[in-house]
Amino acid sequence: MNQNRTNIRTRIALGSWALADPLWPGQRRNDSIQVIHSAIRLGIRNFDTARAYGNGQAEQLVGQQLKRFRHELNRDSYSISTKIMVPAEPSQTRTLIESSLRRLCTDYVDIVYLHWPSSKRNAAPVLDKLVELRAEGKIHAIGLSNFTARMIEELVRTYPIEWCQLPLSLLWRRALSDSIPLCKRLGMKTVSYGTFGFGLLSGKYRNSQDFTEGDWRKNIFCFKDPYRSTVSELVALLQEIGKRCNLAPHEVALKWVLDQPVDQVILGARTRSQLEQTMNAITNIDEIDIDVSKVNELSILLDNIVCSDVDNPFFHIW
Ligand SMILES: NC(=O)c1ccc[n+]([C@@H]2O[C@H](COP(=O)([O-])OP(=O)(O)OC[C@H]3O[C@@H](n4cnc5c(N)ncnc54)[C@H](OP(=O)(O)O)[C@@H]3O)[C@@H](O)[C@H]2O)c1
Repeated sequence: MNQNRTNIRTRIALGSWALADPLWPGQRRNDSIQVIHSAIRLGIRNFDTARAYGNGQAEQLVGQQLKRFRHELNRDSYSISTKIMVPAEPSQTRTLIESSLRRLCTDYVDIVYLHWPSSKRNAAPVLDKLVELRAEGKIHAIGLSNFTARMIEELVRTYPIEWCQLPLSLLWRRALSDSIPLCKRLGMKTVSYGTFGFGLLSGKYRNSQDFTEGDWRKNIFCFKDPYRSTVSELVALLQEIGKRCNLAPHEVALKWVLDQPVDQVILGARTRSQLEQTMNAITNIDEIDIDVSKVNELSILLDNIVCSDVDNPFFHIW
């Protein structure tokens, strides 16, 4: 394995939302277990989860499966990040973290994120509690997820926040012009999600009817006007480019994300074969020369038609 390839792998994190959450119906537990095992075998050493994913089920799955590799992997050779919502009472923070630790079968979590900002609940007193837990060694670092650039800038003045998790893909590139440069300037690390457009950039979904009942993607903005036609043009272009360089459309989208200035890229996979295909594509992705200028144009066009005050791809749902 050459140096570049090793570096790309260290930038990858395995996501766990789809592995144990009813918003991704039809997921089989055995497939989820195999995804985690193959991630470990393929050299992925970052695992992203959240209390909100299946109300703790994803944390439990990740924790129990990593525990099975204890004899092969030292705890300090991999990183686990989890997330909590801003609780109603800041005093609940400790209980939330301690229950996550139990589910994750570990003494500490590498990164704890506040999952979403809340318009009703103040993040500051919760961050005070996270700082206490960090001093006790139960957390190694604190992060913000889905917070706007303005919120990040304000909270970083007071709190030792080291990580920022944000959406970044050809479908949602807004962070490139605000949060990512801000985090770089503040010395924070950035982690992106939504690389495959939550699966939409694979080209297998044409409209919302292609999703089974209960799949959250049925309501995603991409299938609504005025975004629909630009998204389908974008997917068609990825398919065309992919054919020329022997990549699947979502792998072209992955290359685009890997070329952006983010420290870590989270990937979702629902089966072992999906993950293996992706990691196989990553092996050669650095050497493939792709002209992404047209893809960039379309993705900028899409960004321009989403209202400027909307800051997240989930905006039509939550
Ligand atoms: N901080 C946050 O608020 C936040 C939000 C979202 C996600 N995340 C994190 O990011 C992780 C990644 O998930 P994501 O939602 O961002 O999705 P993503 O990586 O953009 O897409 C993942 C989905 O793409 C499809 N896929 C994956 N590999 C494929 C392949 N080889 N061929 C065809 N389709 C493939 C699968 O869905 P199908 O097979 O069903 O199409 C998979 O579930 C999550 O698990 C979570 O850890 C964080």
